[in-house]
Amino acid sequence: MTIYLARALDTPEDPFRGGVLRAEESVAFRVVDGVIVDRGTLAGVLTRAEPLEDELIDLRDGLLLPGLIDTHVHYPQVRAIGALGMPLLEWLDTCALPEEQKLAEDGYAHAVAAEFCFGLLSAGTTTALVFGSHYATAVDSLFREADRVGLRVTSGLVVSDRLLPEPLLTTPERAYDEAVALANRWHGVRRNRYAVTPRFSLSASEPILEACAEVMQEIPTAFFTSHVNENLAEVAAVAELFPEASGYVDTYDRAGLLGPRSVLAHNVHASEVELKVLAERDTAISHCPTSNAALGSGLFPLASHVDAGVRVALGSDVGAGTGFSLLKEGLQAYFMQRLLADAGLPLTPAHLLWLATAAGASALGLAHQIGDLSIGKQFDAVLIRPRLGDPLDVCLRNTSSSEEALGRVFALGTVNDVAGVWIGGGQVSGAIRSPRPPLTR
Ligand code: GUN
Ligand code: ZN
Repeated sequence: MTIYLARALDTPEDPFRGGVLRAEESVAFRVVDGVIVDRGTLAGVLTRAEPLEDELIDLRDGLLLPGLIDTHVHYPQVRAIGALGMPLLEWLDTCALPEEQKLAEDGYAHAVAAEFCFGLLSAGTTTALVFGSHYATAVDSLFREADRVGLRVTSGLVVSDRLLPEPLLTTPERAYDEAVALANRWHGVRRNRYAVTPRFSLSASEPILEACAEVMQEIPTAFFTSHVNENLAEVAAVAELFPEASGYVDTYDRAGLLGPRSVLAHNVHASEVELKVLAERDTAISHCPTSNAALGSGLFPLASHVDAGVRVALGSDVGAGTGFSLLKEGLQAYFMQRLLADAGLPLTPAHLLWLATAAGASALGLAHQIGDLSIGKQFDAVLIRPRLGDPLDVCLRNTSSSEEALGRVFALGTVNDVAGVWIGGGQVSGAIRSPRPPLTR
């Protein structure tokens, strides 16, 4: 049993629907078996606890946020991050897909799985919907490594049967068999869950999408994830390949793949009809701002999604995205809405925190367990504590409100400011450094 004393910020209510930032300068969390069983003033929590049995950890020299939730990130692309200057299809051909073929080799995949999980954890990401590999053995390596370090990972075998390099292709039959075998081994095992994952409709024929739907029927609590409406050339190519479909979203919908456990990445070029379908299916969108900017995919129409009632969360989209930090994604999301001028949705720091935490929990069907720091939730948390004298440290000492402080965290925070990460009450990364005086403002 542990009591954490913290300067904590979270968003238990959706700021897009009137929720506000919850910020407390000094709040105590009593954590038992990984779950927050009490929160309040230290005096109050202590009177309700058995003080002699509880360890007290003071984290008030930093800012405590809920663990960050990445709803779209590619495991086999860690070593491909940062190749700039190309649009999607050229980047896939010259950069991502050659790298992904290397995961056919077990030793290589194992090394990349370790680098990937370390990348997530060191960025303060505690939960992720991970685009897996085309190789079942490599997906197995990912689940094993995530299990070892304690990350909450939903992932699966990526399947395609056309237009990619031959070593990445499979057949509908093999796709089904390998997916079911992996799901049987990992779905629901500790923090791992399975996601049925056709790469995108461009590389997935109707028969393989039907095989995906059969896997969903076989494993009814599995998730579904893919890409949609990312790049105009891609959207046009998909339209030619699916003449019967009314649009890109429909290519998945016709196969019965869209529902409340489906998360589609990007949707930069969505039509109104498609947004309506996504809202009806309660399918969530993973908005990946640094990827959209780096590949020149376009400016994400967040306002249209919110107006249509489509759930949106954040994704880093590593390796097209430029790193694992969801703080950077939040800032880039803010920039994008500014650049959309009148069509943009002005985002406050509370919106950014929501998108990086509770919105992800909702998209991944985990809102009852994670996403904020309320009683009853798992203690998944990240401590942001910049080095003394760092511009973020200076700004935090000179802000007048918690909302302002949170804005500074998104503007200036990097993975180097992540001083501690907890998942289910266990500290998984970052030593708690020697205490410092609380931030003065
Ligand atoms: N569409 C299909 N595959 C990919 C990928 O690896 N990254 C991105 N950003 N889009 C994709
Ligand atoms: Zn992607």
